[in-house]
Amino acid sequence: MTTQFHPPDSAPLEGKVVVLTGGALGVGSCIVRLLHTAGAHVFFGDILAEPGRALERELSKANAKVHFVHCDVTSYADNLALFDAAYTSCGRVDHAIANAGLGEQGNMFDPDLTLESVKEEPKKSMSLVDVNLKGPLYFARVASAYLKQPDVNGKGATAAADKSLTLVSSVAGFREDPGLYVYIASKHGVLGLMRALRGPLLRSQPHPIRTNAICPWMTRTRLVAGIDKIWAEAGLPSNEPEDVARVIVGVLADGQVNGGTMYIEGGRGWNVEEGLLKTRREWLGEERERQLDRGSEMMGGGEHWTANKRSQV
Ligand SMILES: NC(=O)c1ccc[n+]([C@@H]2O[C@H](COP(=O)([O-])OP(=O)(O)OC[C@H]3O[C@@H](n4cnc5c(N)ncnc54)[C@H](O)[C@@H]3O)[C@@H](O)[C@H]2O)c1
Repeated sequence: MTTQFHPPDSAPLEGKVVVLTGGALGVGSCIVRLLHTAGAHVFFGDILAEPGRALERELSKANAKVHFVHCDVTSYADNLALFDAAYTSCGRVDHAIANAGLGEQGNMFDPDLTLESVKEEPKKSMSLVDVNLKGPLYFARVASAYLKQPDVNGKGATAAADKSLTLVSSVAGFREDPGLYVYIASKHGVLGLMRALRGPLLRSQPHPIRTNAICPWMTRTRLVAGIDKIWAEAGLPSNEPEDVARVIVGVLADGQVNGGTMYIEGGRGWNVEEGLLKTRREWLGEERERQLDRGSEMMGGGEHWTANKRSQV
């Protein structure tokens, strides 16, 4: 029922302008390298200036197409500055990838919570929501404006060009894992954001924007330090960060896929969203599916919500 996603050749990305976050380390740095090899212009943001600048320096030996921009994704101004750096320099932005993320911080639902310890506000846990959910919301909003802009250099100003927004969620975006309370909630949010945007952004003019989500399972970066050993001993499949980067770059190069959820396991990607949609009648029931579709049809483009001033307080 679920279709394997085979990343196509990245040749269509030559000369494209790509913005991404979290590019200094892990999966993000592999995306930067793959895009650089494909001949794209890359603007990557991160809070880690040292590895970011080192990566920029290393790749700039070949050409000056890779740029590090200091960017904290929790800052709206930083997201704006990242996109603006690309737009000012190249006259357009073609693809955007919200990749930056953090693992669980603190223990929001400590089973030993008492009426005394519960009084302390869980600030550390909530900082994860800022990076993993507020960050992608800011990034997606800014991306939705920059990606649809006509090329200031004139090329592709009228003909629709391929534009995409890719949001990195996780396997924790559609199922639970023990101990990852806030991480799971934030990554479900990112998958929800993709679903919320995949229709409206495809109607952007003059350039429709494809929106997809990436849901890797265990990937060997510093995010999973400590569990990678027991994972290997159990013989469970894992990804190298390059595997995840290859699927993400493939989604950009594909030029067609919209609304997909790419689950990545053992180095391979599957579009699990397709299976979910195809079997909807099975898990929802025929009558409820029909009524839900009628409800969605009635809501049109969602203008009823924005017209309702009382819902906006
Ligand atoms: N490693 C896994 O098993 C796994 C599984 C599923 C999803 N993911 C997701 O993949 C993405 C990449 O993670 P990774 O495994 O490469 O981890 P990583 O820690 O190696 O890389 C994350 C990058 O994000 C950057 N970052 C963190 N906070 C930031 C902020 N406020 N502003 C800007 N940049 C910031 C970090 O500096 C780092 O460069 C994350 O969204 C993560 O949740 C990872």
